[in-house]
Parts: sequence; C-alpha cells; structure tokens
Amino acid sequence: MSLAIEHAGTAADFPTLAREGLVYLDSAATAQTAEPVIEAMDAYYRTYRASIHRGVYPIAAEATEAYEGARARAAAFAGSSAGETIFTRNATEAINLVAYSWGRANVGAGDLVVLTHMEHHSNLVPWQILCQEKGAELAYVGIDEGGRLRLDELDALLARRPKLLAVAHVSNVLGTINPIADVVARAHAAGTVVMVDGTQAAPHLPLDVSALDADFYAWTAHKAYGPTGIGVLHGRRALLEAMPPFLGGGHMIASVDEFASRYADPPARFEAGTSPIAEAIGLGAACDYLDGIGMDAVRVHSQEIVGYAVERLGAVDGLTLHGPAALAERAAVCSFSLEGIHPHDTAEILARDGVCVRAGHHCAQVLMKRMGLHATTRASFAVHSTREDVDRLVEGLATVQRIFG
Ligand SMILES: Cc1ncc(COP(=O)(O)O)c(C=O)c1O
Repeated sequence: MSLAIEHAGTAADFPTLAREGLVYLDSAATAQTAEPVIEAMDAYYRTYRASIHRGVYPIAAEATEAYEGARARAAAFAGSSAGETIFTRNATEAINLVAYSWGRANVGAGDLVVLTHMEHHSNLVPWQILCQEKGAELAYVGIDEGGRLRLDELDALLARRPKLLAVAHVSNVLGTINPIADVVARAHAAGTVVMVDGTQAAPHLPLDVSALDADFYAWTAHKAYGPTGIGVLHGRRALLEAMPPFLGGGHMIASVDEFASRYADPPARFEAGTSPIAEAIGLGAACDYLDGIGMDAVRVHSQEIVGYAVERLGAVDGLTLHGPAALAERAAVCSFSLEGIHPHDTAEILARDGVCVRAGHHCAQVLMKRMGLHATTRASFAVHSTREDVDRLVEGLATVQRIFG
C-alpha cells in the first residue's frame, strides 16, 4: 500500500528518489529537495540573478521581490510575521544569533539558563559557551522512561526564575513532540524567555509560532525539502528591536560614520552581508510545496507511516525502540537499538540494500549518555515515505541479524 493521504508528496516530487533501489530514511538529517524548489532556484540563477535591496534595474527589483516574498511565505508558513522572520545560514546559526546577541545582553554572572537532556548540540553548545563566558549557571530538565520531558523538573527549575529556557519542539533522536505551548506558558509565568529549536518540527507538524507564544523559534530549510544554506529565526519583535547586532557589515546598518554606526531595524539588522538569495527563494518554494499538501495532511501521513514503522519494528526480535509509545507524542523519527549489534554495522548492511538510515549519537551526546548508549540507528520519514519503505527497512534488519546474529 502506498500513501494514505491522496495529496501527500510522492517520490516523483523528488528527483534524487529516481535512483534505482533507493529507500531514503534519513530526512531528519537532511530531506530530499522537492522539484519545485529546484525549479525556483534555477529560475533565479537563469533569468533574474542580481543582488537585492540596492539595485534599481528590473532584475534586481525582481530578485528583491522574490527574496522578500520568500520571507513573507516562511513567516506565514510558521504563523509568524515578516518583520519577526530573520534568514540565517541554518538553525544552528539562528540559535547562535540569539545566544550571542540576546544572550550577551541579558545573561550575567549567577543567572540560570535551563536546557533539556534531549537537546541537539545546536541548542546546547551555544548556551554552554555563553554560560562559561558570563559565569552563568546551566541546568537541565531530564526525560522520563518514555522519552518525555520531566515537567516536574522543569517546574522546579522555573521556580528559580531562569533567564532562559532552551528546548526542542521535537527531539531528533526520540521523535518526542514536546508540549511547547504548555512549556512556554510555564516559563513565561516565571519571567523566563524561551528559545525553541523547531528544526524537526517545522517540516512535520502544523506550526503556529504566535499561538505557541515562543520568544524565539528556529528551523532550517534543508530538513523541510528546501535547500541547504538557509535557516529561519522567528523572534518576538520587542526582543529583536532591543537586541544588538550579531554580525556587522553591509545591509545591517542605517548609517555608518568613522567611529560608530546606526543599525537597521530587524530583520535587516541581523542579516549582514549578501543574503542567501537563491536559498531564500528555494525555501519559499518549499513552504509553498508543504502548504500545497497541507500540514494537517502531512501530519496524518507521518502518523500513519510512523505507526506502521512502530508496529513492524516492534515485532523484530531483540530490537528496542526509543522514544514515546503514544503516536500522538511522536513525530517522524524512529531510533532503535538491535541487541548485540553496533548501530554503524546495522546502517552499513542496510546501505548495501539501498536503505539509507543514520547511525551515531545524532549530535545529542548528552541524551545518549543519559540513555546509557553511545549510538542508535535512526530511521526518519518524509512526505514521500511509504509502507514499502518500512518493509524494506525491516527486511534489511533481518539480513543484519543473519550476518551478525
Ligand atoms: C533538533 C535539531 N536541532 C538543530 C539542528 C541543526 O540544524 P542545522 O544543521 O540546519 O543548523 C538539527 C539538525 O540535525 C536538529 O535535528
């Protein structure tokens, strides 16, 4: 059986998937690029390539319109506004922007910064660096046996009125969907600013950053069927306006004198240098692609595929599936361990059959240590994933067990 949802994406939308025998189950690392994204970027390079914002000639105006149009589309896709949407190089840079700009202006010696044990290194290391530099304290919210955030631990830490809480919307290892609206409400009641890492959520869940009330929300285009080289930071306007620049250079200024400059308003203040123009146009097309399917349909399809994967993987002898049991709490990720077999061996044997999965610590070493593991094997799904893909994965695991068993 193929897709349950008539209008979900299909493999035909993704040129790479035309490769013979390829079963791509690594979209949490990077998703395949949708054809309309490639076409939109190609059209820019072939027909109206020019720099933006300054040129007065027609192709420059066209490029500017396309770039700013992409910002408006990314904002609408996420339930934010264009004035609160900043383009960065990736999600990592978006989080670093907040850590360097907001963090250095607002976090001082003795302040508390709270992270969770399920953070990707991108939403962990920038805060470590900040706390080390400022003499601030770092503390972690743990996770329970089912891979869910310990809200009791969160509340205990919030009682100390931390300056910042940095939390993933969806874990890239466990697939856990955190109750972000609730978490943000608890944090705000304590006067705590919240940085949400939405990298694994934006491509898979209907997203409304305003409804979540997140102060900062980061995601990345290359996991949402868009190009590499561009990420998005949504920030509350009042916070952005009060923040100093992150990088200095062209475009981020209002005027420059010999010894001082006046800075542009956000979002330009945080977009120094020539922008990722083609990438933004590609991101806009990716948002259109996902909106065309409809994020409710994307979520329904992902639940069906993940439900099938959980069922099939659950029947494999010696396999431990990590993360929440309830489908409502899991996004498009299944991480697992096979008894007695190293995840890298598993991934390598699967690769021989064309099944692409990721093995390793998934840039979440703190979580791995908490789970008592060095690595897991991770299959992650996309709008083009089918039950047949899951079947090929499970058949491949039988081969792995034959070889290593
Ligand atoms: C949860 C999470 N956060 C952040 C990132 C970093 O994304 P990027 O490499 O695009 O900055 C990733 C990528 O794997 C991720 O899964």
